Amino acid sequence: MRRTADIRQWATDDVMWWRDCVFYQVYVRSFADSNGDGVGDLPGIRSRLGYLQLLGVDALWLTPFYRSPMVDHGYDVADPRDVDPVFGDLEDFDALVDDAHAHGLKVTIDLVQNHTSSAHRWFTEALQAPPGSPERDRYVFRDGRGVDGSDPPNNWTSMFGGSAWTRVADGQWYLHLFAPEQPDLNWANTEVHADLERTLRFWLDRGVDGFRIDVAHGMAKPSGLPDMPPEAAATGALAVPDIDDPRFDNDGVHDVHRMVRKVLDEYPGRVAVGEIWVLDDERFARYLRPDELHLGFNFRLVTTDFDAAALREAIERSLHTVAGLNTQPTWTLANHDVWRQVSRYDDGWRGVARARAMALVELALPGVIYLYNGEELGLPNVELPDSALRDPVWERSGHTERGRDGARVPLPWEGHRAPFGFSDAEDTWLPMPDDWAALTVEAQLEDPGSVLSLYRRGLDLRKTRTEFSGDELEWYGAPPGCFAFRRKGGGLICALNISNVPVPLPPGEVLLSSGPLEDDRLPEDTAVWLV
Ligand code: NOJ
Repeated sequence: MRRTADIRQWATDDVMWWRDCVFYQVYVRSFADSNGDGVGDLPGIRSRLGYLQLLGVDALWLTPFYRSPMVDHGYDVADPRDVDPVFGDLEDFDALVDDAHAHGLKVTIDLVQNHTSSAHRWFTEALQAPPGSPERDRYVFRDGRGVDGSDPPNNWTSMFGGSAWTRVADGQWYLHLFAPEQPDLNWANTEVHADLERTLRFWLDRGVDGFRIDVAHGMAKPSGLPDMPPEAAATGALAVPDIDDPRFDNDGVHDVHRMVRKVLDEYPGRVAVGEIWVLDDERFARYLRPDELHLGFNFRLVTTDFDAAALREAIERSLHTVAGLNTQPTWTLANHDVWRQVSRYDDGWRGVARARAMALVELALPGVIYLYNGEELGLPNVELPDSALRDPVWERSGHTERGRDGARVPLPWEGHRAPFGFSDAEDTWLPMPDDWAALTVEAQLEDPGSVLSLYRRGLDLRKTRTEFSGDELEWYGAPPGCFAFRRKGGGLICALNISNVPVPLPPGEVLLSSGPLEDDRLPEDTAVWLV
C-alpha cells in the first residue's frame, strides 16, 4: 500500500490546480506499446512522459485500463479495481503515477459507472440468480411486454444501434444503453453506490488526481421506464439526447454525483469532470452545483462546424452556462469518439489549416482545455478497410456506421514506416497508414512550421504570458465570416478569418499566428494572437 498521507500532502499544494489546466487525453491502446503486442500500455505511457512535458500539458486523462473483455475497448469494465494484463498491472500504474508527478503532470483516470461488462462477476451472478433476486437488482432486469413477454420492456434503443434490451434464458430482459456486453447498473441499489465508493477510494489512495466520469448524464433511470418519444431516439456513441429522452439526464443522477463529491472532498486537490451530453444550459449547469462535479465537458466546440457565427455562439453559450458557478468552462475539439478535426473541417491542407486556426482559438479561451492525443500532430481521421474495424458500432449498426476507429489509430513517434515507433510489432491493433512519416513526433519536433511546434508554442505562451489572464471575453466588430475577441483581464486578442478573402489584422503586436500572414492582413482559414 502506498503512503496515502504523503500523496495527500503532495496534492494539497494547490487544490484548484485544474482551473486553467490543459489536460491531455491518452487513449491508452493507441499511445505507446512497450511490450510488442501491438496495443499501447501503461509502461508505454511512462516511457513518453518526457514528450508530454516538452509539449507543455499539465495533466493526463487516461482512458479505461481496467480488466475488460474490450468489447468497447475498455468501456466495458469487468473489474474496476484492477489493471487489464494487456495494459500492465497495478505496479505499472503506481510507477506511472509516480513518474508523471515527478514530471509535473497530474493524472486523472476514466470511471465507467453507468454500466459494467457482462463479464463482471456481478453480471454472472445475476444470470445465475432468479428474477427478483438481489443479484438481479444490481442491474436493470424486467419482464417483457406482450402475452409471452417476448417484446422488450420498452422501446429504448441502444446508443450503438438496435434495441437497448437483451433477453436472457429465463425470459427476462436486461437493459444496456450501449452494447449488450455493457449491462446498465441499477443506481437505485445501495450496493452499487457502495461499490463505486470503494473504487473511488481505491484509486484516490493510489494517488490519482481525479476522474473523468463516463456517461455522467446517464446512470439514474426514471421510475416505470417509460417509452422514449421515437423522435428523441438519439443514437451514436456521442449523440446528444433530446430533452425528452428518458434514458438520460434523470434527476436521480445528481445523488450519484453528490456521493462522488463527498468522497473527493476528503481528498483535497482531486477533481471530477463529467461527460455530460446535455445541451440545455440550465440542466447542464445543475451538474456543476457546489456539491456535485467540479467540471463538466462542454461539447459545443467539438460539435460546431467551421463557421464564425456558429463558433462564436458556441463560445458565448459555453461561457454563459458556467458564469457565476464555482467552476470553469471546458473546451475540447477532439476525443476518441469523434472524427479528428483535420478531417472534420475539410480534407488535406485546408483541413490542417483550419485545425491549426481552431487550436489557437481554443488555447486563447479562459478555462480548462482538453487535448486528444494526436491532435497536436495534426493527425487526420483514417479510412480503415472494413476488415480492420473494431468499434462495436460497426457490427451493431449492421455495417451502416463505420464507428470511431478512424480517430483511434496509434500515434506515430519516429522513423519512416509503420508502426513508426509505436510498437515493435508489425501488426498494430488498428493498422497505421504507411504515409505518416512526415507526421511523426520526431519529424515535427525540429520543424518550426509543424503542427506540433504550433501547439508547443501556443501552450507555452498560454502558460507564461500574463495576457492570458481573466475569465471574461469582449467581442470586437469583425468583417463577415470573421470574429475577434479580447481577454478582458490580460488583453490577449484572438482573431479568426473564415471568410474567403484576407481581412485587416486588428491593431496590436502579433504574438503567434496559425499560418503565414499577408503583411497586415489575416488570410482565410487562419487565426492570430495579438497583444
Ligand atoms: C462514452 C465514451 O467516451 C465512449 O467511448 C463509450 O463507448 C461510451 N461512453 C460507453 O461507455
